[in-house]
Amino acid sequence: MKHFTDLKDISSKDLRKILIDAKIRKKKRSKLSILKPDNDAPLKDKLLIQMFEKTSLRTRLSFYLAIKQLGGGTITLRSNELHLGKGSESLEDTAKILSTYGDGFMFRTDSDKKVDSFKKHLSIPIINGLSPSSHPTQVLSDVFTVEEIKKKPISDLNITWIGDSNNVLNSLIAASVKFSFKLNIGCPKKYEPKKFILDWARSKNKKIHIFNNAKKAALNADVIFSDKVISLNDKVNKKIKLKHFKDFKIDKNLISYAKKNCIFLHCLPRGSEVEEKVFKSSNSKVWLQALNRVHVQKSILLYCFGKLR
Ligand code: CP
Ligand code: NVA
Repeated sequence: MKHFTDLKDISSKDLRKILIDAKIRKKKRSKLSILKPDNDAPLKDKLLIQMFEKTSLRTRLSFYLAIKQLGGGTITLRSNELHLGKGSESLEDTAKILSTYGDGFMFRTDSDKKVDSFKKHLSIPIINGLSPSSHPTQVLSDVFTVEEIKKKPISDLNITWIGDSNNVLNSLIAASVKFSFKLNIGCPKKYEPKKFILDWARSKNKKIHIFNNAKKAALNADVIFSDKVISLNDKVNKKIKLKHFKDFKIDKNLISYAKKNCIFLHCLPRGSEVEEKVFKSSNSKVWLQALNRVHVQKSILLYCFGKLR
């Protein structure tokens, strides 16, 4: 059994194995209808328990489909309906019950500490479905999408992030180390990545290129990533923060600094950081990006259950 809580903790070899498996599985099931399990149904009769302390559309649905297509099933809990959420049961006892009834636990939370505590007390694998410090399932899936579209290893490409330094970017930085790709970040000075993630990248001898100028960051990019300026439960003055990002909007002019066939990716939901024209342009691959979460999360589940080929 293995946990999947942060790309930083998983070897490059295992991450690559997950992507290879996802590619094979995606190809094999191209003719199967959405709920039909893969022919080998490797997680037959397994139960994935999902719990959300924050809103979600994609993560919820893609994990539902992922476990179904592996032959298993899922139940989704809302934290405010649990004793734990109401403060009348300990996390330790909750973890014990989750481990008694379920085979895996997918958790979206506002607390990295809770992820660590569950990890300590669960005897089943935990998958981080977004926490303040990372969004690992999203970014691993995004690496898959980039390689699927570009038909080359991500290490051969220039990757740019324009936007806030948030959980998704932390995971992208981790991915840039694990998959050895060049990463440019464009953000206002005040919103540069946190010290803990830059120190970690530095400890791996990785240079992350940070620009306080969006055009410089976008120059020659093969891929431009972005995300909402205001993340879920972001406790900031929204108006002021949005103002700080006014020169970091992804519009046609900014895209013209990237390579001609540059693709635009966004984990969604989106805000005002991307112009409608870019979002709906042929550069934008956001719908395929969302779909691929199903395929990659299947292989993440297999990794966690010790069933990856
Ligand atoms: N990208 C993503 O995680 O979307 P949801 O918040 O809808 O799950
Ligand atoms: N950074 C965003 C990602 C949403 C999927 C957030 O944390 O809200």
